[in-house]
Amino acid sequence: MFSTATADADDSASLALPVLDEDLDRRLRAQLRLVEERLELEVRSEAPFVTEAARHLLHAGGKRFRPALTLLCAEAGDSSRPGVVTSACVVELTHLASLYHDDVMDEADLRRGAESANSRWDNHVAILTGDFLFSKSSELTSELGDEAVRIQAQTFTRLVEGQILESLAPGPGEDALEHYLRVVEGKTGALIATSARYGARFAGAPLEVEEALTAYGAKVGIAFQLSDDILDVASDTAESGKTPGTDLREGVPTLPVLMAQRSTAPEDERLLSLLAGDLSDDALHAEALALLRRHPAMAEARAHVLAIAVEAQELLKVLPEGPVRDALDAFAVLIATRSG
Ligand code: IPE
Ligand code: IPE
Ligand code: MG
Ligand code: MG
Repeated sequence: MFSTATADADDSASLALPVLDEDLDRRLRAQLRLVEERLELEVRSEAPFVTEAARHLLHAGGKRFRPALTLLCAEAGDSSRPGVVTSACVVELTHLASLYHDDVMDEADLRRGAESANSRWDNHVAILTGDFLFSKSSELTSELGDEAVRIQAQTFTRLVEGQILESLAPGPGEDALEHYLRVVEGKTGALIATSARYGARFAGAPLEVEEALTAYGAKVGIAFQLSDDILDVASDTAESGKTPGTDLREGVPTLPVLMAQRSTAPEDERLLSLLAGDLSDDALHAEALALLRRHPAMAEARAHVLAIAVEAQELLKVLPEGPVRDALDAFAVLIATRSG
C-alpha cells in the first residue's frame, strides 16, 4: 500500500511501505500508532495559536514515509528499543518543519490537500511554525544522545544547503543536471538517509548494516524527490494533494525540464522557449505543462529514477533474505514508479 494517510484515527496507522508479511505489517502499524501519539504531544505549545498552526499540517495527512522507513530499518535489529520510536518522531517533525518553510519559498498554496500555512495565515506564521517544529525535533533528538545530536545537525545542514542551492544557478562550468542532483541529495536525500540510519542505529543493528541502510536511504531519497518532480508535472491535485506545475511556475528546473532542455529537435522549439521564459502567466504555464507532459523527457526521467532505485536495491544485499529485505526492495521500485 502506498497511499496518502489522512488525519482520521483509523488511518493513522496506515503504512507507506509495501509490507507483505502479516506479523511485520502488524508490528509496524502498532509502532506507527505510537509515533502518531508522540507527534501529537510534541506539537503542543504553551501558546494555543502555535499549537493550532503546528497541528494544521500534521493533521492534514501526509504519507509518514520517513518514520515508516525508520521503523522498517529498525527491524534489522531490536525494533522494540525505545530510541526507535523517538527517532521516527524526530524525522517526521524535521520533515514537517521543512514543509512549512518550503511552501514559503515556493509560494505554494496547497499542501497535503489542505491550504498551506503561508496561504491560510501568512509567511510569518509559516516560518515561525517551521522554526518551532525544528526546535521540537532538536529537543527530542537530545533524548537520543550526543551522537544523534551531531547526526541531526549535519542532516539539517545538508537539507538547508540543498534548499539554498536550489535557488542558485549552477556554478561556472557546472552541468545543470549535476547541480540539480546535488540539490536533491541535500534537500531530500539527507533526511531520508538519516531516517534509515536512525532505525538501524537505535535498534542496535551492526555498523555494517547501519552504513548500508544509510546509503540505501540516500538513494531512495533521491529517487523519491525525482519522482516527486515528475509527479509535479504529470499528476493532478487529487493524486498529489499539491498544485501541479508548481516547480514550472516557480522556475525551478527539475529533472523532466532539464532533460527536455537537452533536446535540439525543431518540434521542441516552442516548449524550450516557454521554459526559458517567465511562466507566471496562467495560459503560458498551462501550455508549457501540456507540452512537457507529452514530451519524451518524461519517460527518460522515469528511466533515470528507476536506475537509481535499482542501485538502492543492490545495497540491501547486506541484509538476510526475508520480509524486511523484501519490503525495502519493493519499496525502492515503488517510489520510482509511484503515481501519488
Ligand atoms: C514532500 O514529501 C516533500 C518532498 C521531499 C518531495 P512527502 O511526499 O513525503 O510529503 P508528505 O509527508 O507525504 O506530505
Ligand atoms: C521539498 O522540495 C524539499 C523539502 C521540503 C526540504 P519540493 O519543493 O520539491 O517539494 P514539494 O513538491 O513542495 O513537496
Ligand atoms: Mg515545494
Ligand atoms: Mg521547494
